[in-house]
Amino acid sequence: MQLNILPVCGKINSAHLLGTTVIVIDVLRATTNMVVAIQNGSNRLIPTSDAGEAAMLASRLGARDSVLAGERGGIRIQGFDIGNSPFEFSPEVVKGRTVIMNTTNGTAAVCSMSAARNILIGAMINCSAVARRAVQLGDDVLIVCAGTEGTISADDLCCAGAIAESICKQSRTPVETTDIVMVCRNLYRDFRDKRADLSKTFHWNRLVRLGFEKDVKFCFTEDTSTVVPCYRDGIIQEMR
Ligand code: MLT
Repeated sequence: MQLNILPVCGKINSAHLLGTTVIVIDVLRATTNMVVAIQNGSNRLIPTSDAGEAAMLASRLGARDSVLAGERGGIRIQGFDIGNSPFEFSPEVVKGRTVIMNTTNGTAAVCSMSAARNILIGAMINCSAVARRAVQLGDDVLIVCAGTEGTISADDLCCAGAIAESICKQSRTPVETTDIVMVCRNLYRDFRDKRADLSKTFHWNRLVRLGFEKDVKFCFTEDTSTVVPCYRDGIIQEMR
């Protein structure tokens, strides 16, 4: 198996995705919330690359059956039901409903990967489970970091390193890796062993300044979930 990491999501040649398993991560906070929403009983999640499209879909489905979630600059989009904190995706809010989601980076990253054979949603909270599923699928794996508005985000690299570490541990066959995989695994190990401090990195620091310190802690707690959401035909549901 070949394992690679795309450090920031941008224009990607669809031909490079054919036959691969892609794991999309936006650990702070979009893909973490996708895992939480499915875990808390949402029927399905629809990621969108445009806030207007999200609002239109939600009004078509109606308030009883849908929840409109999204942020700009970390703050809830005006008129949306909830923002982008994992604590807002509670069972009371999402159970039995379709969550329609639009965020600055994470939802567009998921939508842009549709040429891959399988698209899994990864985060720290489901790190081992998503790695296990990727290994089981048996294809080459590309971990795609959403990044922050076209630039690399260290939080995503660290999460990519955690998932890569777990894939290498769980695979029964040799894993061929690229240099960026080594860089991300080293960052993850340094973070885990408290040699690397991510609290001053851009996105982490901004969320703390906005009062979302609890969210960051939640998003960086490993393996609290075994849910592995999968994106197919415009919809995210748990992969069974
Ligand atoms: C995004 O998609 O850019 C993020 O999830 C932003 C956030 O932390 O709210």
